[in-house]
Amino acid sequence: MEVIEVQTRSRNYPVYIGQGILNNPALWSQLVNGRRLLIVSNEIVAPLYLDTLCKALPAGGQHEQLILPDGEEYKTIDQWMRVSDKLADMKAGRDACIIALGGGVIGDLAGFAAASWMRGIDIIQVPTTLLAQVDASVGGKTAINHVAGKNLLGAFHQPRAVIIDCETLNTLPTREYRAGLAEVIKYGAIGDSNFFNWLEQQADSLNARLPESILQAVITSVNAKADVVAADELEQGQRALLNFGHTFAHAIETATEYKLWLHGEAVAIGMILAARLGTQLGLDTGEAEQRLTRLCAALGLPGAESQLPPAGELIEHMRLDKKNLGGQYRFILLKTLGQAFIHTEITDADLSAVLTG
Ligand SMILES: NC(=O)c1ccc[n+]([C@@H]2O[C@H](COP(=O)([O-])OP(=O)(O)OC[C@H]3O[C@@H](n4cnc5c(N)ncnc54)[C@H](O)[C@@H]3O)[C@@H](O)[C@H]2O)c1
Repeated sequence: MEVIEVQTRSRNYPVYIGQGILNNPALWSQLVNGRRLLIVSNEIVAPLYLDTLCKALPAGGQHEQLILPDGEEYKTIDQWMRVSDKLADMKAGRDACIIALGGGVIGDLAGFAAASWMRGIDIIQVPTTLLAQVDASVGGKTAINHVAGKNLLGAFHQPRAVIIDCETLNTLPTREYRAGLAEVIKYGAIGDSNFFNWLEQQADSLNARLPESILQAVITSVNAKADVVAADELEQGQRALLNFGHTFAHAIETATEYKLWLHGEAVAIGMILAARLGTQLGLDTGEAEQRLTRLCAALGLPGAESQLPPAGELIEHMRLDKKNLGGQYRFILLKTLGQAFIHTEITDADLSAVLTG
C-alpha cells in the first residue's frame, strides 16, 4: 500500500492507495476506532462495496448509512439536507465522522455536509471512480449545485484521510474510466513530461486496465495533486493550473446542457483546444496539440474533431467563466508539454480561430 501525505495549512492527511485496501480492518480501526460513523453512498455503489466496507469497520462500532440516488442531478440542497437530517437523527456531535463511498458526486456532497455540520466534522473519502481517485477526493474542495449553476455552494474542507482502492475500478463503466484518464493526462501535460511519455507508452496497458499500470497512474496523479494543493490550498495561484482545458470544457458542457459529454471527455477536447490556442499564439510548436490528440485518441477519448456547439455560443460561455479576472480571459496554456502557465492576453478572435480551425 502506498501512502501519500498531503500537507496543507489547515490539515495534513494521508492518502492510502492500493488494491483491495477497502477491506483492511487494521487501517479502518486506526482511522475510526470509537467514532460515530455515517456512511454516505449511492444506489449504484452501495450494492457493490458497502458490505465490504461495513465488514472492515471495527466490530461493535456504531455506524449508520445513507444511500442517495445516483447522478449529478442529485448533488443538490435537498440531498445535502438529507445528510444533515441523518446527522441530526444520529445526534452526531463534533466527533462524528462521515465516510463518503462513491464517485465525485458523493464525495463533493458528503464533503459539503461534513464541512457545514457544526462548522466542520471529519470526513474520510473513499473514491470509487478514477476521476474521484485522481482529482475530486484530494484537495478539500466540496460543493453542491445551485439552480443558478454548478458547485455554487461549497467550502474548502480537507478530509481526515482518503482511501483509494483501485480494485473498485473493476466495476466502473468503460466510458467513466476513460473520462477519468483525461484528468490523469492533464497532470502529465501541465507538470510532468516524463509522466506524459509514460502514459503514451502505457496506452495499451491502461486500455486493458492492467492493475499495475492503473496503480502507477493513480499514485503519480495523486502525488501531483498533493503538491499543487500543498502549495496553494485555496486556489489563489498555482492551483489554477489544474484547470488546464477546463475553460473550453465548461463552455462545451454548458452549451450542451451537460447531456452530451462526460466532464472528462469535455476536458480531453478542452486540453487539445487549449494546446492549439498556445500554438496559435506562437507559444509552442504544435507538438503539444499533436501528442495530446494522439494520446486522447489512443485512450478512447474524443478530440477537437468532435462536433462542437457553434464557436459564438462557446465564446459567450467562456466570457462568463468564473476564472476570468477584471473582464480578461484567464487561460491555462502550455509552454511545452509538462509546463503550464496562466495567460491573460487572449481575444475573442483568438478563440474563434481555435474553435473554427
Ligand atoms: N472536489 C473536487 O475537487 C472535484 C474535482 C473534479 C470533479 N468534481 C466533481 O465530481 C463530480 C464527478 O465525479 P465522477 O466523475 O466520479 O461522477 P459520479 O460520482 O457521478 O460517478 C460516475 C458514475 O459512476 C458510478 N460509479 C461510481 N463508482 C463506481 C464503481 N466503482 N463501479 C461502478 N459504478 C460506479 C456512479 O454511481 C455514477 O453513476 C462532479 O460533480 C464534479 O463537479 C469535484
